[in-house]
This record gives sequence, structure tokens and C-alpha cells, in this order.
Amino acid sequence: MDNRAIGVFDSGLGGLTVFKEIAKHLPGESMIYFGDSGRAPYGTKSKEIIIKYTLQDIRFLMSHDIKMVVIACNTMSAHSFDIVKSILNVPVIEVIGAGASTAVLETRNKKLGIIGTSATISSGTYQKAINKLDSNIETYHRACPLFVPLVEEGQEWWDSDIALRIAQEYLSPLKQTGVDTLVLGCTHYPLLYKTISKVMGEEVRLVSSAFEVARVVKRMIFEKNIQRDEHCRPEYRYYTSDSVEKFEPLCSTILGWQVSSAQKVDIEKY
Ligand code: DGL
Repeated sequence: MDNRAIGVFDSGLGGLTVFKEIAKHLPGESMIYFGDSGRAPYGTKSKEIIIKYTLQDIRFLMSHDIKMVVIACNTMSAHSFDIVKSILNVPVIEVIGAGASTAVLETRNKKLGIIGTSATISSGTYQKAINKLDSNIETYHRACPLFVPLVEEGQEWWDSDIALRIAQEYLSPLKQTGVDTLVLGCTHYPLLYKTISKVMGEEVRLVSSAFEVARVVKRMIFEKNIQRDEHCRPEYRYYTSDSVEKFEPLCSTILGWQVSSAQKVDIEKY
């Protein structure tokens, strides 16, 4: 039994897609979310900066005495997971392994598309994880650096004509390869689901890691026997490094419940 919260974090809003899924799978657990919207996107930055930001985010979360860390960001998972795992004494979960294994199970023609931030795609982490599971799978990838700023800008952009135009530019070459499954290798991308699906066509399956990550978190909680006492009411806390006024309505839209107690963090202090 462990009544401490699970810490979940991302460069911004995208990790909320993972937070929501964990909340569904583990409704009795308390969680703390940190979104570094003030410094997003991470995926266009160098490895050194990504690692520096990840460690600051972790130091902030650890100051809340959490029992587990979920890196709800593919970019940070690709570049900092090993480092984070080696320095923390609580379990750490990343998102790429879960996304890769779901995609391998989904594909029928063994042609997989992968989209993500520039840093995730250039790391080759997805490609390696997929081919480790099945070396016969052909992968085709594309970095989509404008997707994260589009999501962070607000809901009115997610299904807009501009989003569609950008998606066409990025995804048309992938569509032509004949992939039957596309990995949404960035936790922001499920928020562009409709737009991405419009370009790829309904026959192409879109895979995000959120569901599988939530299952991994649940399994780990029970394996380590660190579940929360069911008589203790769970609590959610939300933090952002940017304006709370901008964060709260978007956070509420993504989660599907009202968030009105978010707090601003000066993340550079950590
Ligand atoms: N949600 C992050 C990811 O999964 C976005 C990274 C960024 O800020 O560019 O990669």
C-alpha cells in the first residue's frame, strides 16, 4: 500500500492523453500532472536541452514525494529514459515501448508508418523497438514538427483547414507507401486524430501509446504492491509552466472534466 501520487509529465498538453487513460484504468490513484507549455516544443531541441529539461521536470515532480514517474512524452522517452531510470529510486515508465508493441500487433501487411517530433524520429528509437519485436516489419517515418505548436495553440486549430493542409504535406508521402498502421509517436498527436485520419484514410489504423501505457502502469502498481488505500480519496493536481488561464480550459477539454485549480510553476528554479 502506498498513498503517494503518480507523477505524469510532458512538454505541454499532450501528456494529458496519457493521464486520462491512467485515470480510467486506476480511478483510485492520486496523480500530479506537469506540462511544460512555457518551453514547448521539446522535439525541435537538441538532445542536451531535452535531457536538461527532463531532469528539471523530474526534480519538480520529485519535490512532491511521488511513488512513480510516467514520462508521457515520446521525445523525452527517446532521449532521457535511461538517464532518468538510472537516477531515480521509484519506478519510471516511458511511452515508446508501449506504442511499438501495440503497433506490431495491429499491422496486417507489416508496413508501419511512424510520425513524431524531429528529435524522436531522428533518434530511431521507434524503428529499433519495432524491429526488435519483429524484424520483418518495414517502417516508414516522418517528423511533423508543426503538429505540437498547433495543438498547444488551442482547440480551434486541431480540426482546422490549416491543420489539414499541414497534415497533407507531412503525411501524403507516408500514405503512398501503403502502410496499414500509423504510430502516433507523440502524445500530442491523438488530439489531431480527425485531421490525421482524414489524410491517411479510414482504412489506416492510428495507434497511440496511451492505452497500453495505462495498462503497464496498472500492472506495475499491483506487482510492486504500491496501490493506494481504497478508503483514501484520490486527488489530482495540475501544474503548468505557462499561463494557468490558457492551460485550464484546454486541460478540461482534453480530460473531459473541469479543471480549475492548476498552478503555475517556475520550472527554471529546479
Ligand atoms: N508530447 C511530446 C512527445 O510525445 C511532444 C514533444 C514536443 O514538445 O515537441 O514527443
